[in-house]
Amino acid sequence: MRSVALSLLVLLGAAQASILLPYHMPDELIQLMAFREQPQNAAISVCNDIQFNYCQTHFNQFFGMDDSISWRNGSYIFNTVQNYLMMNVTELVKVCNTRTQFYQCLGSSYYPCMNLYTLLNKPQPDFSNTFDYVRTFRGLEWMCVGGFSEVVAQWSCLATFPTTKAYQNCIGNFNQTVSAANFCPAVAQTGVCLNDAYNAACGPAGAGYFGCENFRITFDNSCWGLRCMVDSQ
Ligand SMILES: *[C@@H]1O[C@H](CO)[C@@H](O)[C@H](O)[C@H]1NC(C)=O
Ligand SMILES: *[C@@H]1O[C@H](CO)[C@@H](O)[C@H](O)[C@H]1NC(C)=O
Ligand SMILES: *[C@@H]1O[C@H](CO)[C@@H](O)[C@H](O)[C@H]1NC(C)=O
Repeated sequence: MRSVALSLLVLLGAAQASILLPYHMPDELIQLMAFREQPQNAAISVCNDIQFNYCQTHFNQFFGMDDSISWRNGSYIFNTVQNYLMMNVTELVKVCNTRTQFYQCLGSSYYPCMNLYTLLNKPQPDFSNTFDYVRTFRGLEWMCVGGFSEVVAQWSCLATFPTTKAYQNCIGNFNQTVSAANFCPAVAQTGVCLNDAYNAACGPAGAGYFGCENFRITFDNSCWGLRCMVDSQ
C-alpha cells in the first residue's frame, strides 16, 4: 500500500508561484477520499446537472474558457484559475467575486456538486481531473472567505511560498507518509508542517493558519474534525 502511494504521488514539475497548492494525488487515494465523502443523506444532497452546467458556463466566461469546459477538465480549470490568481490582487478579488456568483448560482447544489463521491459516480470520470476540479473550488472557498483578508494582505509572500524548499519538504514528507492506512494523520501532520513553514516565511500574524487551511480544506470532507491551529498572540 505504502509503496503504491509512494510511487504515484509526485510533486508537479518545477516549482512555480501558486496560491492553489501544487501537489499530485494518486488515484487510489482520490478514490479513498471519494468513499469518505459519500453524502450521509443522498436525498437532500443532489447535484442538479442542468444547473451545474449552466453555472459552470457562467464561471468559465470570466476566464475566457469555452462553454464545454466542465469538471471533466479539472486540471485545465485548476491551471487557468491559478494563472488569474497569480496576476495581481485585483485579479484575485475578481476571481473571488466570480467564485461567489458560482456558489450562489448553485445554491443547495453547491456542496453535492463539489464532491468527489458525486462526481466520480458519473460515467467514466478521470480521477486526477476530478480531484483538481474539486480542490480548485475548495481552495477558492478558503482564500475568498475565511482566508481572504490574509491573502490580500500577504498575496506576494503566500503565492511565492510554494516555490521554497520549506514547502517542498512539507509536501515531500506528505508524499512519503500518506497512504490509505495513514491518511488523515498524514494530512494533519502536513498541515502542522505548512503552518510552521508559512509562519517562518511570511510572518506569524496569520500566514501559518492560512497555509495550513489552504491545504487542509481539500480534505475537509474526508478527514472530519481536523483543524488548523490559530496562533495565539
Ligand atoms: C475537456 O474534457 C473532455 C472530456 O474528457 C475532452 O474531450 C476535452 O478535450 C477537454 N477539453 C480541453 C480543452 O481540455
Ligand atoms: C493586474 O493584472 C492584469 C492582467 O495582467 C492587468 O491587466 C491589470 O492592469 C493589473 N492590475 C494591477 C492593479 O496591477
Ligand atoms: C514523491 O515520491 C515519488 C516516488 O518515490 C518521487 O519520485 C517524488 O520525487 C516524490 N516527490 C517529492 C516531492 O518528494
